[in-house]
Amino acid sequence: MEDKVITEAIEYVRNLFAGNSDGHDFGHTMRVYRNAMAIAEKEECDRRIVALAALLHDVDDHKLFDTTDNANARVFLNDMGVGPVSAERIIAAVNSVSFSKNRDKKPETIEGCIVQDADRLDALGAIGIARTFSYGGRHGRELSENIGHFHEKLLLLKDMMNTETAAKLAEERHEFMLDFLREWEREIG
Ligand code: NI
Repeated sequence: MEDKVITEAIEYVRNLFAGNSDGHDFGHTMRVYRNAMAIAEKEECDRRIVALAALLHDVDDHKLFDTTDNANARVFLNDMGVGPVSAERIIAAVNSVSFSKNRDKKPETIEGCIVQDADRLDALGAIGIARTFSYGGRHGRELSENIGHFHEKLLLLKDMMNTETAAKLAEERHEFMLDFLREWEREIG
């Protein structure tokens, strides 16, 4: 999508997350962005809102930044000259993404649904496995201690997708994780 604000948003998150490697980094944001655009292609939605919400979805994450009321996202959008109506739609979509805050709640807009799906997809498949062990390592967990996380969270995600497009993508990644867990059991014996 040729759009200066989107190009600027990519640069903004690249700088903001520079030096961060805790799973909510620039790589995560870009994967969520790409997932979101792939889903948006198949859904009736405002693709620009989806793109900007995906790119900004972690810029006020409380684990990383000490901001309130989406201050980072708001300042960026304001600096870019994004109008208040669009900015509010983007912020609303961003706020509907968090797993812990919205465990049982479906986002109210299709754009929020898409970005939430895109974020959850990044917890699945090969990436999901890599992120799980990377996170576990940082928190001093033994390899086998991470297996519970698949059963408690990751294997539940495929049934929580909002859009059919994401549900299909999730199914493939889910199967891959089941293969991984079977092979794990086989090798552990
Ligand atoms: Ni995220």
